[in-house]
Amino acid sequence: MAANVAAPRTHQDYSLIGPRAMQAVQQGLADAKWYASPVPREKMRELLERRDGPAVRDTLLWFALLIGFGAAGLALWGTGWAIIPFAIYGVLYASVSDSRWHETGHGTAFKTDWLNNAVYEIASFMVIRESIVWRWSHARHHSDTIIVGRDREIGALRPVSLIEIVLKIINVPHIFKYYQSVLRHALGQMTPDELTFIPESEYNGVYLRARIYVLIYASVLVLAIATRSILPLMFIGLPSLYGDWLQFIYGLQQHAGLAEDVLDHRLNTRTVYLNFINRYLYWNMGYHTEHHMFPMVPYYNLGKLHELIKADCPPAYNGLIGAYREVIPALIRQSKDPNYFVQRVLPPSAQPSDTPRTTEAITSQARPDAEGWLEVCDLDNLLPGEPVRFEHAANTYAIYRTSIGQLFASDGRCTHGNGQLTDGFLQGTCIECPKHNGRFDVRDGSVRRPPPRVALKTYPVRQKSSKVQLKVA
Ligand code: FES
Repeated sequence: MAANVAAPRTHQDYSLIGPRAMQAVQQGLADAKWYASPVPREKMRELLERRDGPAVRDTLLWFALLIGFGAAGLALWGTGWAIIPFAIYGVLYASVSDSRWHETGHGTAFKTDWLNNAVYEIASFMVIRESIVWRWSHARHHSDTIIVGRDREIGALRPVSLIEIVLKIINVPHIFKYYQSVLRHALGQMTPDELTFIPESEYNGVYLRARIYVLIYASVLVLAIATRSILPLMFIGLPSLYGDWLQFIYGLQQHAGLAEDVLDHRLNTRTVYLNFINRYLYWNMGYHTEHHMFPMVPYYNLGKLHELIKADCPPAYNGLIGAYREVIPALIRQSKDPNYFVQRVLPPSAQPSDTPRTTEAITSQARPDAEGWLEVCDLDNLLPGEPVRFEHAANTYAIYRTSIGQLFASDGRCTHGNGQLTDGFLQGTCIECPKHNGRFDVRDGSVRRPPPRVALKTYPVRQKSSKVQLKVA
């Protein structure tokens, strides 16, 4: 543990439109290149394989538990015994929805994407996060994790207000902000902060969802008034108050007390070993450093990823208690000294934070032929499902060979935040960006999954004898 000696901070510094926001850009901390531990390509490819089975099983179990404990609460309503099923229902509703929201938001939980989208909308409502607003906010959190002035999802702002932290256990600050935000959006208004990270094309979707939320809440409220009972609110509304505490415990330890403004997730994110119940409820997000470093890896493969990179990371914490042994004293100290943070120490086996990512690229200085065709590589060097990065005349291209042997080519950089697409995951004809899980159809460059809004430029590519050729002109 060590304290740095930066200038004192105030809460205002965390604004996305304040002086620190500008500073972060000037210092190269916005949308920067982050450290990533080395993982052999073939291993990574195995880890990236998506399946529907684990998430379908886990989601059905989650819904079954919700219905079961909800029904038990209803049956026991009016007796003191109702407290037990509702206590569990509240946690399943307001806390467990957090990890489901998170994984489906990344589009990695299910292989079938409409399942990701459907569960994402349901979980967003349950965890009281407006689905579109938080999709964009979370993309920013991944680009600029704990970068002051850029990241809207920093859990403990320095100087830490201990009263605020305690209130967060019952979700009070967020509940107020959420309902204000829903009402504002239902009226068709955005805040200046939101204008910095939500694209204009999404505004109508935000407003529509806010109006649907208002309709649902109003219906539940009317039902409660008509029946003169808080029972309807015990199912929708109040769980955010009485059932959110576990989400808070899971979420706060991810980054609290650690370094701000560093471009290495090993230094600002915790990995915590959890028991099997917590692993189920939290969908393996205890492996949080791994998730931040490689957000394309689905939750059910994070344990395997951890085994591959743990020698390159500081030691994982032994359970939530192990993490909070560090978090609580750090937050108390940060309440008095906003410059203090916990300095995570890399093991001797680890690579330094400034080690560049090694992505193999084929570089060519050759001139295209009269028709604009240029040789890229031997076909044998372009393996199915493993895109090749091709550099020519200051341009980066991604060349793809699908599992059935079709060839495609596109610009190599994602249109959203410059993610290197050849580090991404090719599934069928869809390339997934490694940075925020945006997806494009490589046949025509069209966007298949946000956050990108702008299509990729695609190029003709062909096989000529044993060579792959790209038409750049
Ligand atoms: S950089 Fe954001 S999805 Fe590609």
